[in-house]
Amino acid sequence: MAKLIARPVAQLHGRVRAPGDKSISHRSLMFGALALGETKISGLLEGEDVLATAAALRALGAEVEHQGPGLWRVRGFGVGGGREPGNILDLGNSGTSARLLSGIMASHPFTSFMTGDASLRSRPMQRVIEPLSRMGARFYGREGGRMPLAIIGTDEMVPIEYRLPVASAQVKSAILLAGLNTAGETTVIEPEATRDHTERMLRHFGAEVRVAPAEGGGKRITVVGWPELRGRDIVVPGDPSSAAFIVVAAAIRPGSDVTVENVGVNPLRAGLYETLREMGANIAFENARELGGELVADLHVRGGGLKGVEVPAHRAPSMIDEYPILAMAAACAEGSTHMLGLAELRAKESDRLASVAAGLAANGVRHEMGADSLVVHGTGAAPAGGGLVKTHLDHRIAMSFLMLGLAAREPVSIDDGSPIDTSFPGFAGLINGLGGKVGPA
Ligand code: S3P
Repeated sequence: MAKLIARPVAQLHGRVRAPGDKSISHRSLMFGALALGETKISGLLEGEDVLATAAALRALGAEVEHQGPGLWRVRGFGVGGGREPGNILDLGNSGTSARLLSGIMASHPFTSFMTGDASLRSRPMQRVIEPLSRMGARFYGREGGRMPLAIIGTDEMVPIEYRLPVASAQVKSAILLAGLNTAGETTVIEPEATRDHTERMLRHFGAEVRVAPAEGGGKRITVVGWPELRGRDIVVPGDPSSAAFIVVAAAIRPGSDVTVENVGVNPLRAGLYETLREMGANIAFENARELGGELVADLHVRGGGLKGVEVPAHRAPSMIDEYPILAMAAACAEGSTHMLGLAELRAKESDRLASVAAGLAANGVRHEMGADSLVVHGTGAAPAGGGLVKTHLDHRIAMSFLMLGLAAREPVSIDDGSPIDTSFPGFAGLINGLGGKVGPA
């Protein structure tokens, strides 16, 4: 385990580029594999999670080639054209790989196996097993549908109409991907809108995807089976969930002036930025433009005093990965920040509610954790710091508490920095380039 420490600094200054969006990177490779012809991708995130997807797609028969930094070429096998993997697919820490690929593998007439690290093996897969079983696939897993998982797929799936019991873009995507190799129309009803990269990108590759209002609220998303997907060029925007660590670090150090270039600001991903602005953060979206079908902007942050706010439960899907770093902003704000509707945080790379609460406790930050809520009491003064935080194989816990260390009175350590490479290779170097002090403990 690679212990890391972050020491207090006065301010951060400079311009950096956010790493490629993780959700869009996974999908670029997967949809390229499901298309015929060539897909060229630029700006791909070369983190461990996305590399796990690349390896799995190669095992399924796609040609996936690294051509240069962020530049990848995929030659796909086409919808339903994958081959049986010769071995167990090890998806490391990546829930997105596991959930989305299970939709692809379940709709092929072969048996495949997947596993992952201790974190991924503890995460719920029943949420994809249930709808994909209704479509005709069979699964064998551990208690509660946990991995390792055997998937007995079929190319005779039946289309379903499925109402999502949890707000999850991964479950929605798994069903839509299975729907590609299914006769007729497969429909997912989502009561609360989640990130829509799958819908947008599948259309770009040539699928028919219809979105309509659902009865009683939410959206009905329908994919028409057996489309002929064609290889496309994809430009991956920067990841708002990764930019979040840099933006918050600058926002909590008064006098900081940082620009993060090329950040995706799709409204279904931008809830953190709305919240930070409500807290009084000075964040300008500069040079807003469209890049590869997504809205991007350069985020210009100037550090200053933040105040506590109430973050409504309905905002959770648009900032689901950002609560750990929001909790750090809340720890530095004046007043209490109430975060509601957080049940899904318990099903992430770690139980993020528990991990955040334990880390706050270790660093002298007053807080209350509920079953699905967190209240952080800031005083407006720098938090004590000085704690050692357990990261539980969770990259976002690791990065969040390192950013707290830049703003606390005493340095903050984390027991293991290695999970950072799953989503943000080069994180410490980038932060230090802005004036941060993150290094081996
Ligand atoms: C993702 C969806 C979210 C998010 C994850 C990436 C995606 O997960 O937390 O980091 O790419 O679809 P859930 O669908 O489990 O909410």
